[in-house]
Amino acid sequence: MKNIYIEEITVGQKIDSLFLIENLSIKTRTGGLFITCTISDRTGTRECKIWGNRGSSEEEIERYYGLIAEGNIYRIAGEVREYKGSMEIHVNSGIEFLRYRENENNLNITDYIYSPVHPDEIKKQLEKHISGIKDSGIKKIVREAIKTSDGFYEKPAAKKNHHAYYGGLAHHTLEVVEIAAGITDSLPGIDIDRDIVIAGALIHDIGKADTFEKSGISFKPCPTYSLIGHISPAIERISKFRRYTDEDTFNHLLHIIQSHHGTYGDVMPQSTEAWAVHHADNISAMLNEVDSTLKDIKEGEFGWCKPVNSNLYRFPEKRAAGRENKNDQNRPETIREPEPEKQENTAGQRSLF
Ligand SMILES: [Fe+2]
Ligand SMILES: [Fe+2]
Repeated sequence: MKNIYIEEITVGQKIDSLFLIENLSIKTRTGGLFITCTISDRTGTRECKIWGNRGSSEEEIERYYGLIAEGNIYRIAGEVREYKGSMEIHVNSGIEFLRYRENENNLNITDYIYSPVHPDEIKKQLEKHISGIKDSGIKKIVREAIKTSDGFYEKPAAKKNHHAYYGGLAHHTLEVVEIAAGITDSLPGIDIDRDIVIAGALIHDIGKADTFEKSGISFKPCPTYSLIGHISPAIERISKFRRYTDEDTFNHLLHIIQSHHGTYGDVMPQSTEAWAVHHADNISAMLNEVDSTLKDIKEGEFGWCKPVNSNLYRFPEKRAAGRENKNDQNRPETIREPEPEKQENTAGQRSLF
């Protein structure tokens, strides 16, 4: 009973269709509890809030929270609303359909997995970058580290932030490698070791593969995702292969992993190669956030992009298409006021990477 896809839904619409549930959590509100999650299919992902019926007790909401298994397909019956400029689905009486998950054997699973990329293509391109590393010891470390990281090509790069979709970790890694290679090749006057840059970019987030586990037909974060993060698992992973190179080269790779979060991490980048990877990582993560936020903003309007702590403006597409905009007829009727300037507070801001 898949009768509507995420990309087709609009504000105000009532929906009743099958979707994959992920990122389940329970929250408090005045007068009770509610469940939040994301629902997705092959066309996209949306926030979903499950309030229950008017008279639903806290016990009832808790019971449903215990019944829903992340990574499984459920019947979602509710209404599409707009909240802070984003579309989300609100479920009230439809909560009763969340008692049972759908049997995925009767469904086409690919209809429910969102990924804006082709994971097989990403894998091919990453393998090409690995093969391009000239130093055989460094190449072996990278190859073994990726080969032994279970689900590296399928897992997401994050629970909610950038590249949070099937194949997102490999997609983000490919972007970082290509941006870092671009930086390196654009600066012929700078003394920089290309092999170290490419290898560092390839393994900088490899620890993320250890922080997600299979759940239903998708992946969910393990407790270590929050408790440990992804830097120490990456260091642990590549330490198994330290015998393939000399101590300085190995320490340089460790340093790139340890410092790639820049000012958000414990260790600042302290080599040209580490700065190149840090900036490449930043560009990939930030632009992915900006791009996905802009997709939810209407043309000629502003919207708040929390991960980059800034307003964004969606320029009318006619400009991008190269068409002329000679009169005011095409101007938007309403321009939403930008959010008030937020005080810059990098200390309290979360890292995207
Ligand atoms: Fe990263
Ligand atoms: Fe990272």
